[in-house]
Order: sequence, then structure tokens, then C-alpha cells
Amino acid sequence: MCRDLRAGSSDPVEREFLQGQISDETRHIALYRRYLDRLGAVGEAEPALADALAGRFVWQGSPLGTIIAVHLLLEGEGLRVQREFGRWFPCDLLCQINASISPDEARHIAFGRRALVARIGMLDEEERVAIYHWLEGLWRECARSVSDDIPGVIRLALGKRWMNERWARHRRILIRLGLVSAAEAGMAA
Ligand SMILES: [Fe+2]
Repeated sequence: MCRDLRAGSSDPVEREFLQGQISDETRHIALYRRYLDRLGAVGEAEPALADALAGRFVWQGSPLGTIIAVHLLLEGEGLRVQREFGRWFPCDLLCQINASISPDEARHIAFGRRALVARIGMLDEEERVAIYHWLEGLWRECARSVSDDIPGVIRLALGKRWMNERWARHRRILIRLGLVSAAEAGMAA
């Protein structure tokens, strides 16, 4: 995703940031890979998440759609999971790895917020609302797919209420950053 976004950007500052993010993500992948290799075999990715990561859900219009999906939703969930995993899986090494990665993820989220605010004026109303619809569908499909695949105790914590509350939080942020108005988000829902 970052490579695609970088190839499509003519802004030198954005291109440099995305190059840095590619290095960050490559380092994160290597760290988690080493950690998981110490635990044993690595399981299959959940189908909806695997599709999303394979780029099959790239927004076909403005690149801003993809930036919001990656930098606000995916990174936002990543940061939250990194914080929560310490409680779910009390492993000192995992907590250390997550703590070392979290500042990078926070920087990636800040990039997404900045890009959204700077560029939202370039989109027409139809595309803004369409991006919002698409993001909600994508997010809910991935959240359902992930929660189907995890053990009972944690899945209980990720029930329907969790999903609605969690999406409501994303919706508040997207409204605050100007993707849609509260009325448009209500209409889209
Ligand atoms: Fe990241």
C-alpha cells in the first residue's frame, strides 16, 4: 500500500514520509516474524484481512480513500491492539516489542490525519460519502473476520457492542477530520 501510494504521489515531503514508513513497516514485520518463530508455526491470516492486505480493497478513486483505510483505520486498530495485547497475553517480550513500535504507528496515524485534513477539500461530496460507506463496510468485514477466528474469552470482548462502539469512535474521528458531516454519516449508516 505504501509503495503504491508513494508511486502515485508527486509531493516530495509525502514521498519521503512514505519511504520512511516502508522502512518502519519492514522493521516491524521482521521483529514480529522473529517473535512468532520463537513461539512456533504462524497461522493463516483471516480471509477478509488477507484480502485487505493483498490490496484487493484499494479505493479506485482518490488515493485519499486508501490513505484513510491504511493510516487511520488499519494503523489505528494496530496501535490499539498493541496496547491491549499486553493485557490479553502478558508476555514481557511482546510488550517490549509493542512499546518499541507504537511511536512509529502513532507517527503513521498522524500522517493520515494530516493528509485527510489537507486534501479533503479536493473531493466532491459524492466521493467523500462513498469513501465513508466503503470504509465502514471494509472495517466491519475485517472486524467480523478477525473476531470469528479468536478464542471465546477474547471474542466475547469483541462482540457486536464492541464493534459498534469501536466503529462509532472511528466515525467521530472521521467527522472531526471533515470526511463527512454528522448528518452524512447518519445518512450513510
Ligand atoms: Fe504502521
